[in-house]
Amino acid sequence: MRTFFGFFKPLLESIARLETAVARRWVASAHRRLMLVQWSLPPQPEHFDHHIDLFHQWLATRSSFWVERGVFGSLALKGGDVLELACGDGFNARNFYSLQSRSVVACDFDPAAIRTARRKNAAPNLRFELADIRDAMPTGQYDNVVWDAAIEHFTPEEVTRILAAIKERLTPGGILSGYTIVAQEGGSKMLTHHEYEFKSKEDLLGFLTPHFSNVTVFETAHPARRNLYFWASEGTIPFAPDWPDWVSHSKKG
Ligand SMILES: C[S@@+](CC[C@H](N)C(=O)[O-])C[C@H]1O[C@@H](n2cnc3c(N)ncnc32)[C@H](O)[C@@H]1O
Repeated sequence: MRTFFGFFKPLLESIARLETAVARRWVASAHRRLMLVQWSLPPQPEHFDHHIDLFHQWLATRSSFWVERGVFGSLALKGGDVLELACGDGFNARNFYSLQSRSVVACDFDPAAIRTARRKNAAPNLRFELADIRDAMPTGQYDNVVWDAAIEHFTPEEVTRILAAIKERLTPGGILSGYTIVAQEGGSKMLTHHEYEFKSKEDLLGFLTPHFSNVTVFETAHPARRNLYFWASEGTIPFAPDWPDWVSHSKKG
């Protein structure tokens, strides 16, 4: 038996390695072409297809910032019901939030984003909804609300109103988490769709602290950008002194 596998395993492995080498190049170049079409020709989309990050950009640029929001957002998950606002292509709802939660409702106001999300990032406990969160945020009670890469798409007045609506939907001890980009010096916007880019940690804290007793905002720096992440709650937030040493991500209920 050992001789059989000793002979065939290296051969099978060489064939599989060759296949993956060809597939890697092909999938990367196909996603690079998709990015060129989507972002070089007008109109520019308001969301990014994260399969382009996964299959092309990450390896081409070595920049891992695109996974930070999913990782830091996941730290706040409580294993219950999640509402993701402005979910874009739904990559994070599926690949970061759904497996560690009982249910996820992920919404966006762009029909193209919701179509992509349903096509590419479906999961059994995940529902994608078309909704404008300025006046038609999904109702219900949620243990987590996620607002990734989108708070900067709203005016300061809208942010204040949306934060009040989020607060109404959080269970006692529920956590809002999210991510935004730091405004560039000189004032040029990173994306034309941005309404208000936050200038600093303190600027973002100024919006969150009127609504939540416990807030953490922290920054990461990457070669081409600086990023702000936030957790906000009336209860315990990650790494507070009473945050449990070990958080179970098995689904409740
Ligand atoms: C940069 S994308 C972020 C997508 C995703 N959350 C992520 O982290 O990749 C911003 C998203 O906000 C959505 N958006 C902007 N205004 C909105 C609104 N009023 N209601 C719902 N979604 C909105 C856009 O359609 C877009 O998908």
